[in-house]
Amino acid sequence: MKSTKERVMDFLIENSNAYISGEVISEKLGISRASIWKHINTLKNEGYMIESKSKLGYKYCGSEKNLTPIYEIKHSLTTDYIGKNIHYFKSIDSTNTYANKIANNSEEGTVVISDEQTNGKGRIGKKWVSKLHEGIFFSLILKPEIPIFDAPFITQVAGASLVNSFKDLGIDVTIKWPNDIILNGKKISGILTEMNAEIEKVNYVIVGIGINLYNQEFDKTISNVATSLLSEGYMVEKSLLISSFFTEFEKLYEEFKAGNKNNILEILRKKSAVLGRDIYILRPNSDKEKVFAKDIDGDGNLIVVDKNGNINTVFTGEISIRGLESYI
Ligand code: BTN
Repeated sequence: MKSTKERVMDFLIENSNAYISGEVISEKLGISRASIWKHINTLKNEGYMIESKSKLGYKYCGSEKNLTPIYEIKHSLTTDYIGKNIHYFKSIDSTNTYANKIANNSEEGTVVISDEQTNGKGRIGKKWVSKLHEGIFFSLILKPEIPIFDAPFITQVAGASLVNSFKDLGIDVTIKWPNDIILNGKKISGILTEMNAEIEKVNYVIVGIGINLYNQEFDKTISNVATSLLSEGYMVEKSLLISSFFTEFEKLYEEFKAGNKNNILEILRKKSAVLGRDIYILRPNSDKEKVFAKDIDGDGNLIVVDKNGNINTVFTGEISIRGLESYI
């Protein structure tokens, strides 16, 4: 059920080619003009540009630069459940942390999104730098009825969906197994999947996605491995990339829940940045190991050939991989 504020905004978005009077909005939506005025003021304070002209009425002119335009996303969304409920913040410690807090009382597909994270989390205890308006930071709350051992594959579902959503905007990316999205040899996006489960049952899974959009400078520890869409010459609308991800993810996630991993695996293999190459495997507290990346198996694990010709399976978890000369 949409709130009155959302209904007002929907109406303004639908009629954004013209001024529309308070009287018409009031008639169409069945709410008082005073209430419309109040909601429009709130929306303006939130960063939505709504022009008002006496005798003409109101006109939606877009959102402030770099704000995540939640109402536009909701308005254009065609998914059944991914992104139907969105918790939006201008700033938060971490969308994954918040998603974990609300997950038990949230429906599958609920999204937490923020324009800034003050304590963004990366994989393996790392930080994810999330400066205001520089990127896209969101977390999905999922409640799949699947065996626990199948849950890590959700990271791969997200990776394949990111490939498809970048493709929808004309951007060709690859995946550095298991969870880095690569553009022109550098990391453009990362996925942090967290799970809450009992012995036999997955309670919920949180899939956190970070995408570098406008970053121009990176911390020196990551400057040779990270990039942003702007640095690579792409200007994209946040709302388009986010809506496209929700749509692509829902499609592949539905297939995964129905037991069909074929399309996902095809994307993972076809768009892999590591298959067919020599790579190093980095495990905590041990020397790096040089292997040949041979395949991705039906569960999304990496199949490698070691220096003695033995074929081994590498599971996700506390490991990273590197190219011999560079990041991939
Ligand atoms: C990685 O590559 O290490 C994973 C990075 C994941 C970052 C995202 S940003 C949104 C969500 N909230 C977090 O705190 N982390 C994830």
